[in-house]
Amino acid sequence: MHIVILTGAGMSADSGVDTFRDPNGAWAKHDWREVATPEGFAKDPQKVHDFYNMRRATLKKVIPNAAHHALATLEKALGENGHDFTLITQNVDDLHRRAGSQSILPMHGQLDLITCMACGEIIEWHDPVTLDTNCPHCSSKGSLRPYIVWFGENPRYMAEIDEAMQSATQFVSIGTSGTVYPAAGLVGEATHRGIPTLEINLEPSENAHLFDQGIYGLAKDKVPFWVDTLMATL
Ligand code: OAD
Repeated sequence: MHIVILTGAGMSADSGVDTFRDPNGAWAKHDWREVATPEGFAKDPQKVHDFYNMRRATLKKVIPNAAHHALATLEKALGENGHDFTLITQNVDDLHRRAGSQSILPMHGQLDLITCMACGEIIEWHDPVTLDTNCPHCSSKGSLRPYIVWFGENPRYMAEIDEAMQSATQFVSIGTSGTVYPAAGLVGEATHRGIPTLEINLEPSENAHLFDQGIYGLAKDKVPFWVDTLMATL
């Protein structure tokens, strides 16, 4: 058995992290063209830093919820029983890791890292960044950017994701609207390979018709329920 999970912002919503496309989500309060594109960063880098500084600061105030913990428990149980587990996440928060998940592929980057456009170094980072912040590696000023995949950029870990999808025996999508590719296309790949697909979301997503099965409600309730059901079969 190889369970491949894809998570999105709905996974962390019960921890108090904003989703993007819900009525109170990040894209209702901020123009994604201004804060989540290379063009936006070129035009007003401090505005982009302010957006990610704010989201990075949120990480200090939130903790993993029952859904994060359930996936970490599932990964451990599968491993102990000789099965495989891969967790692909579009989330840039660190809540899966803090819950204890191990095999995480953060395809849209990580809020707790920054990268230097001058020297290429990737650095663990928990504080605000300004245009006056020096790169701790090469000392360049104004050269740091969030370690985030913006619209128009290539997601990370695509080779690992492809490999996982090739050996997956079940694909489960949790808390994502299914609007951003290539993540939104993974269910199609799973269907093409003939493996079962399940969506767990607050409500049917735009891709709901592509899944064999749907479980709808809060991730913090529905994910532990699904995990318990699956673990009973191990
Ligand atoms: P979205 O905000 O697009 O979708 C979040 C989904 O979670 C929606 O379908 C909600 O119905 C669902 N949801 C909300 N609260 C929930 C809860 N408590 N339990 C379960 N489900 C809940 O977020 P993503 O699909 O993750 O990329 O967005 C994908 C990408 O678009 C993000 O990674 C980000 C964004 O632009 C970049 O910034 C590059």
